[in-house]
Amino acid sequence: MPSASAAATASPNIALIKYWGNRDEALRLPSNGSISLTLAGLTCRTAVSFEADLPADVLTVNGAMETPAGTERVSRHLDLIRAQAGLRLPARVESQTDFPAATGLASSAAAFAALTLAAASAAGLDLPPRELSRLARRGSGSACRSIFGGYVEWRASDSDAQSIAEPLAPPDHWHLVDVVAIVSADPKAIGSTEGHRLAATSPLQASRVADAPRRLSLCREAILRRDFEGLAAVCELDSNWMHAVMLTSRPALIYWLPATLAVMHAVAELRRSGVPVFYTIDAGPNVHCLTPVEAHAAVAERLRAVVGVRQLLLAHPGGPAVLV
Ligand code: PMV
Repeated sequence: MPSASAAATASPNIALIKYWGNRDEALRLPSNGSISLTLAGLTCRTAVSFEADLPADVLTVNGAMETPAGTERVSRHLDLIRAQAGLRLPARVESQTDFPAATGLASSAAAFAALTLAAASAAGLDLPPRELSRLARRGSGSACRSIFGGYVEWRASDSDAQSIAEPLAPPDHWHLVDVVAIVSADPKAIGSTEGHRLAATSPLQASRVADAPRRLSLCREAILRRDFEGLAAVCELDSNWMHAVMLTSRPALIYWLPATLAVMHAVAELRRSGVPVFYTIDAGPNVHCLTPVEAHAAVAERLRAVVGVRQLLLAHPGGPAVLV
């Protein structure tokens, strides 16, 4: 084996067209395709070393031992990579993030993208990005998109080999800024793995999935033409539709806090006053406000004044997962 240890970095991504619900839960094959933007300036760095004298896999996140459930999820992911490499050694995994985990900032996307790349490399596998994307998807669906930089599309498919992400446009194609309004940094009560299971209990999920090809094509076209208004319309619709599914699931999943709604109103108000901006919200209370780079200072100034906004993070289009 050329190397028994490696480290990689990856960034989270914000879903512009959301993945919510699986057609195959074990393989994490999504009910519908999705499109995202990889976010620079928020990073997860993961180091993996396979060591013969470890009794079992060990995982630390930001210097603290991970919970048994978290470690188990990572172990199962490492098993896929070990099986592919014909390796049986336990691993030491050390992960560091520079953004709050478990707040709908897709920390699992960055974490599993970095883990997949670092572990594959440490195991001596030299895999092309599409294969890394397939593997990352097994850890956390949205992680398959964080293997790539810029604007990325993950195609829905019944096939494990075909359900992978691919780049739509590089980061410098269109300089949008994601002004993330943090309204809570608390870990969420219901994670997305559980949430995906609930999607099918909503009477609105079937129509959301059936309409997904139309929204994907509107989103793809808007990105390729840099049509901000077109992108804003389809992304807000898509985010609202996913949250409508969550709100109408059994039991209902309510990720929004009062300040989430306050930010949504502030965004609508900004737009009425001529500032180009739209919101999109993943599985958490924080609000991603996307705006062309020229307008981001005006957006940040207004959002800072919204009661309940604790912090603003600014993220620019980011690059792919890389070995470090
Ligand atoms: O990859 P997961 O299981 O964390 O699910 C991500 C779900 C959303 O963030 C809500 C949507 C998406 O496409 O990223």
